[in-house]
Amino acid sequence: MPHRARLVHLPPRRGRDLCHQAFRQTLDVLRITDEALEDLCCECPRLPDLDSLVLRALDEMTLGEPQGRTRSPSHVFLVHARQDEFEGMLYRASPQGFRPVAPPIRLTADETHAFSVDAEDVTVSNYRDEGTDLEAYQARFHPEVRRLVGEPIRNYVSYRVAGDRPGAIIAFNYPDRATRYEAQVLAALAVTLGTVWTLGSRVAQVEEAFVYLIGALARASEANDEVTGDHIVRVSRYCEVLARAAGYPEGEARVLAYSSQLHDVGKIHTPRELLRKPGPLTPAELALMQEHTLHGEKIIGTSPRLAMARRIAGAHHENWDGSGYPRGLRGEEIPREARLVKIVDVYDALRSPRPYKPALSHEQAMEVFTAGDHRTRPDEHFDPELLRIFRDIHEEFRRIHAEIQPW
Ligand SMILES: [Fe+2]
Ligand SMILES: [Fe+2]
Repeated sequence: MPHRARLVHLPPRRGRDLCHQAFRQTLDVLRITDEALEDLCCECPRLPDLDSLVLRALDEMTLGEPQGRTRSPSHVFLVHARQDEFEGMLYRASPQGFRPVAPPIRLTADETHAFSVDAEDVTVSNYRDEGTDLEAYQARFHPEVRRLVGEPIRNYVSYRVAGDRPGAIIAFNYPDRATRYEAQVLAALAVTLGTVWTLGSRVAQVEEAFVYLIGALARASEANDEVTGDHIVRVSRYCEVLARAAGYPEGEARVLAYSSQLHDVGKIHTPRELLRKPGPLTPAELALMQEHTLHGEKIIGTSPRLAMARRIAGAHHENWDGSGYPRGLRGEEIPREARLVKIVDVYDALRSPRPYKPALSHEQAMEVFTAGDHRTRPDEHFDPELLRIFRDIHEEFRRIHAEIQPW
């Protein structure tokens, strides 16, 4: 629903203050949008922190007023649609700005008292003008809101918030009276909130689609392989727990988890007969197979959002001692996330049946990580620190493997 501005008649000084306020709010919206976009266009994107943006916008509403002219309400209630119901958050004014009073309150559509998300844009109400007594006036407000405000509500201004998550701002108990001037200040806040909420929900949708497509591409590329889609899911889960245990910040562990799914995406170019060949590969076949790392890098491309996926695809077969492929990198030359995926990938390969070998139990797989076998030499192939962390949390791997079985 488009936002409709309303004309009000104000004394010149107030009109000028209001223009400044609206201008500041517009700049704030632009700055918030810009920061959110910057946070998204990097390797480890962060979704905008809506709560702190809302608080900032609220504080600007009153703390930004010229000294001595502050007309702050005692409480502000922000309500937005959430599936079939509404969620409201009550904030109390303090010298430091507005602070949340309690956890969010859930409201059904007929509990939305004193505001409407589909009727008037703005309501300005003072109980004295309504021909009612103060006690009867309280019935307009949700009982939980009344309880949390903790004093009789004498006036309020409600402004509708338009956008993807429609809602309303209701400000209670202005000193003396609520007027149209307060409503115009709220209008600026309503525009800011509408933008922030819409931006937040669209960003979340795009992010969800992005992560989904990565998984879909990974599954599609493994269609010819002897492994099944559950390998990808398990690798992603193992990576997340190992990354957390290895000290990756939460956001990076999440990026690592979804990026790891593309480690073998280059196998889309590997001939199917090779992927399913039961016996050992000839040197020429082996060289062809090893090219999946380079194909993976090419497929993933150079987007900063996929930089980690690219590093993993290119280096997950490098060995700590330099004996791996495709570049023979050694030690810390190998990107850390690729060293981590290598451990995870080997563990899952050992636990899975192949045309040329049965699946190992968790204990047998852990034995390979200690003593090695004809293909794996733990001390030479793996990052020693990550190997130690993996051994510390190996029970998590057993649990994930038991949880995610072939389709
Ligand atoms: Fe691979
Ligand atoms: Fe794999």
